[in-house]
Amino acid sequence: MISSNDFNQWQTRAQAQTELILNRVLPTAQQEPIYLHEAMRYVTLDGGKRLRPLLVFASAALGQADHDFAELCAAAIECIHVYSLVHDDMPAMDNDSLRRGKPTCHIAYNEATALLVGDALQTLAFDLVSRPSQLPTETQLHIIQTLAHASGSLGMAGGQAIDLAHVGKPMSQAQLENMHQLKTGALIKAAIRMGALCCTDMTSAQLAQLNDYAQYLGLAFQVVDDVLDCEQDSATLGKTAGKDAQQNKPTYVSLMGLDQAKTYAQELIDGAINSLISFDEHADLLRSLAYYVIKRQA
Ligand code: IPE
Ligand code: IPE
Ligand code: MG
Ligand code: MG
Ligand code: MG
Repeated sequence: MISSNDFNQWQTRAQAQTELILNRVLPTAQQEPIYLHEAMRYVTLDGGKRLRPLLVFASAALGQADHDFAELCAAAIECIHVYSLVHDDMPAMDNDSLRRGKPTCHIAYNEATALLVGDALQTLAFDLVSRPSQLPTETQLHIIQTLAHASGSLGMAGGQAIDLAHVGKPMSQAQLENMHQLKTGALIKAAIRMGALCCTDMTSAQLAQLNDYAQYLGLAFQVVDDVLDCEQDSATLGKTAGKDAQQNKPTYVSLMGLDQAKTYAQELIDGAINSLISFDEHADLLRSLAYYVIKRQA
């Protein structure tokens, strides 16, 4: 197992690398339309844990990867994620004023700009994964399709729709799990799959095992998000704490209570780790990321 020191160093390096790529692929703030480009840079740069890019890099470390293309995949999935946050915070959705420790996009700019920032980040993501690579065309198309499915109405956007439709309404555990798998799990799963597909030597059996890992991790991530919303303070979170209860959102905490939600998150992380049983030390980054997801404070 990789030491926590080595993992922390890797994480810091990979976060810095993500920042560099995003900085490079985003239009400059001097380019017209300046206001839109400034807003895109404001929401994307200098913030966030960069979990999805880290997952791309960690799964690309499992085999012989096209590293340049893995970088584009990492930037692309972060662009989709950031767009989802910008829209999630808008008054028509969660109506939040704080994100990543800064005023949300529609507060710092305006609502129309926040809509357009989301639109433009989403299309930038698909621009990035369509750029030339060393991968077989068929594999690259598979990556593009993975990102598209995870983002759309059968993935993140669909999960957000279910979330909004159930404010103040009871949900069974199965319904809640489906919603979490879509609104948050889908992009996390896509990140892991995209990184793995950047490796030319990945077998379909390995992809299936990674899919199990991703299924557990994606759900665990949102369960922990629900717990943190309830337990953590806004300054540490960089977003408004206590928002779910205030808005009557169906969450794991509202369904099963805080203690059981925490136990469930731990069981899911154990499931994620067990799914990697047949991988060697190349999967240590993915193992460490699973521990990070449960230990995180923000
Ligand atoms: C927050 O995601 C929204 C969810 C999907 C739960 P993150 O917790 O990954 O947010 P950042 O990217 O670190 O800001
Ligand atoms: C958001 O879930 C998931 C997406 C943005 C797709 P939440 O609404 O719980 O995310 P936070 O807590 O505002 O980050
Ligand atoms: Mg929301
Ligand atoms: Mg929200
Ligand atoms: Mg939340």
